[in-house]
Amino acid sequence: MTSYPKDCWYVAATRDELDEVGNDFLARRIADCSVVFFRLSDGSVAALEDRCAHRPYPLSAGHREGDLVVCGYHGCTYDATGRCVRVPSQDTPPSGALVRAFPVVERGPFVWVWTGTPGGSRLRPPPATPWLHGDGWSSVGERREVAANLLLLHEHYLDLTNVFAMHPEMVPPGIEALPPLEEVEVSEVSVSYVRELPKAPLAPWEAAASGLDSAESFGRRETGTFVTPGLHQQTYTITGSDGPVFELVRTHGFTPVSPRATTVFLQISWRGDAVSPDAGAQLAAVFHEMADRDIAVLETVQRCLDEDSTPRRYVNVKADRAAVRARRILTSMVEDERGR
Ligand code: FES
Repeated sequence: MTSYPKDCWYVAATRDELDEVGNDFLARRIADCSVVFFRLSDGSVAALEDRCAHRPYPLSAGHREGDLVVCGYHGCTYDATGRCVRVPSQDTPPSGALVRAFPVVERGPFVWVWTGTPGGSRLRPPPATPWLHGDGWSSVGERREVAANLLLLHEHYLDLTNVFAMHPEMVPPGIEALPPLEEVEVSEVSVSYVRELPKAPLAPWEAAASGLDSAESFGRRETGTFVTPGLHQQTYTITGSDGPVFELVRTHGFTPVSPRATTVFLQISWRGDAVSPDAGAQLAAVFHEMADRDIAVLETVQRCLDEDSTPRRYVNVKADRAAVRARRILTSMVEDERGR
C-alpha cells in the first residue's frame, strides 16, 4: 500500500478549533508526527513537534508563559521557533537544544501545516480555495477520523459510481446509471474529471437545499479533482436554461495520521439564487450521513487489504480512470521522496 508524501501542505485544524482552545494547546498527530499548535500574541499560529528535547514528553502537557512553552516535566522552556531558551536547573540551555518548528499558513477556515523538507514550503503555497472564503459562498464543516490510508480516500471520491449502491437517495429521479466520465484532465501533480448528467427533476435533498421548484427538470455538471495529496475538491452544479442556479462544493482536506489512518476536514459550500434559509443544516445532515457510510466502507477496504497476506491485483473498470491516475501521482511522489 502506498503510504503518503510528506512534502505537502496538509490541513492541521480549522480556525474554529484553534479559537476554541484559546490560549491553550491544540495537539494533533500528522504524518506520523505529534505536533502542538498554539496562537501567538501577534495572532499568528506556531507549530512545534510535540516532544520535549530533554525527554520523550509532550510539550502540550505543559503550559504557556506568553509566547513561550514550558515543559510540564522539568520545566525546559521553548520559544515559538522551537529553540530552548531556559533550563531551570542550569544557567544556560545546552547548545543544540531545540524542537522542530513547522511552517503554518491560515487560509479561509483551514490551518495548513507543511510536514516535509524544511525550506520546501517556500517553493509552493497551500492550494487556493476561494469558494471557502466569500464571494457569495456559505460553508459548514466537520472533522472525521477514518481508519484507512489517504490514497483509499482519494480513490473513493474520484469514482462516484458508488452513489447508486451506497447513497441512492442522492441520485436525481429517473437517472439509472451515471454517464461515463467526459473528460479526465491530468497534470504532473493533479487529476480531475468532468461528468454531465441528463436533465432530471430534483432529488428531495437538492430541492430542500437549493429552494428550486422540484417539479422542474435541471441538468447537473459534476467535477472531481485530486488537487494535492492533502486536498480533494468536488463540485456539483445544478443548471437551468440560463446557466447555474445552484452550486455546491464538497471540499475534503485529507491529512494522513499514519499509513492506516486519515483525518478528514470536510467542508460543504454552496451558493444560489433561491437558496433555502436552512440550507446549511440540511446539507450538513445529508453529507454527515454520507460520510458515515463512506467511512464504514473505507475502513472495511483497509481491513481487507490488511488481511490479504499476499498482495492481490484488483481489476479496474472504466470509471476508475481518474482514480488510477491519482494513484500513479501519489505513488511517484512517495517514491521520489524515498529516492532522495
Ligand atoms: S522532559 Fe521536558 S524538561 Fe524534561
